[in-house]
Amino acid sequence: MADTARKYDILVWGATSFTGARLVEYLALNAPAKTRIALGGRNKSKLDGVQTSLAAKHPSAAGTLRAMDILVGDSANAARLHEIVAQTKVVASTVGPYTRHGTKIVHACVDEKTDYCDITGELPWVKEMHCELNEKAVRNNVHIASLCGFDCIPADLGCLMLAQYAREEFKEPLLHVKGSIVGIRGGVSGGTLQTLANQLHVEKKSIFKSLFSGQAPSEQTAVKKFEKRGLIHYDETLGRWQTFWIMSLVNSQTVNWAGEVLGYGPGFQYAESMSARNLFHAVAIALGLFYGVILIFFSLTRSFLYAIKVIPRPGDGPSESFTESGFFSLHLEAFTANHVFYGKVAGSSDPGYGETIKYLGESALCLAFDRDKKFRPGVYPPSVIMGDALLGRLRGKGCQFEVARKQIAAALKGSAKKKL
Ligand SMILES: NC(=O)c1ccc[n+]([C@@H]2O[C@H](COP(=O)([O-])OP(=O)(O)OC[C@H]3O[C@@H](n4cnc5c(N)ncnc54)[C@H](OP(=O)(O)O)[C@@H]3O)[C@@H](O)[C@H]2O)c1
Repeated sequence: MADTARKYDILVWGATSFTGARLVEYLALNAPAKTRIALGGRNKSKLDGVQTSLAAKHPSAAGTLRAMDILVGDSANAARLHEIVAQTKVVASTVGPYTRHGTKIVHACVDEKTDYCDITGELPWVKEMHCELNEKAVRNNVHIASLCGFDCIPADLGCLMLAQYAREEFKEPLLHVKGSIVGIRGGVSGGTLQTLANQLHVEKKSIFKSLFSGQAPSEQTAVKKFEKRGLIHYDETLGRWQTFWIMSLVNSQTVNWAGEVLGYGPGFQYAESMSARNLFHAVAIALGLFYGVILIFFSLTRSFLYAIKVIPRPGDGPSESFTESGFFSLHLEAFTANHVFYGKVAGSSDPGYGETIKYLGESALCLAFDRDKKFRPGVYPPSVIMGDALLGRLRGKGCQFEVARKQIAAALKGSAKKKL
């Protein structure tokens, strides 16, 4: 489609959300001049408020911000969503829970031939969208890239990088990758907690099963060893106790899905865990996560936590200074039949609200402006749709994606912040 065929390049859908307002700010400060951006949501005065407060915060970008049109609609109104998405090349959505609010806008995008990206981690919903819409999206040459936030960009693009390295350097397929979060500092928003609570109530096991046909695992010794890892285990390479990492549920399945589509290797598998200081710390993290999830699951305990201000309400999230002080570091250990090599993916701000905004902003810009890279159409994880083009963009924004034959010492230090 010619650039002029649509009125806007990017529509930020949910510009009033905690993450949406930050995405508007990111695009105002980072998108190429003349990028045509529109703000979308259900509440005109709140959308005006986002525009006004960001313009006051960034006088140098006030003109850019004020030039952004506002489009009002509700995620339940399919006809209005069609009118809205037909005006833009790309929709970047932060309206969650996506299981509740995301389906109609994705349908509208596929019908209107509009590309789409989001930051959901609701994998069953993404699978549902794949099952319902992939064929039509391919027919219409539309790109629906979900999972463009902290779940799952680091693991997804990190493994893409490793699979390419294995192919180019060793001429071998990638058999499996062990991911470990070795350092992290970040907060949580009310919208994320609401989405988690909603997700815990959604029962869609059949969709989980349907997409992962699960090739038989390879007979490689390394693969067998890999499969034996327990929830809490000692990792000899890292020299650390490893524990359950909540996002591994989404990341592992997403990376395995991408690996299957992109053909990383026969029976390719990705698994993720989190480093702890010692065995007691590992047990404490696992128990803390377990009880935290229980407290969020029940509306009574959730309301109590809101009331005593232990967790943020929808619309709220970590402060700007906290976001800036955040970081994460993901250590990757990769196996081919004859080689072991390593990777590091790291970010220098809060993974959920600093890095994620960068990931989503660059995904939207990539879909809007890098179409000459011949993206794969359909409903897929970001590595499958944008692959190298997005990896290149993120590296250009200071996101660390590094691969090496030997252990990357800095990757084990935990804090990515001082190393970048
Ligand atoms: N992958 C990651 O790393 C990552 C990181 C952060 C967030 N997330 C996800 O991103 C999503 C947003 O999080 P958040 O904290 O920014 O959420 P939030 O602040 O609670 O915002 C929710 C947004 O949805 C809008 N909305 C709700 N119902 C709507 C409807 N019927 N029609 C149109 N818009 C509607 C709200 O509009 P109003 O303002 O008008 O109420 C608001 O803009 C969540 O699903 C979260 O899990 C993912």
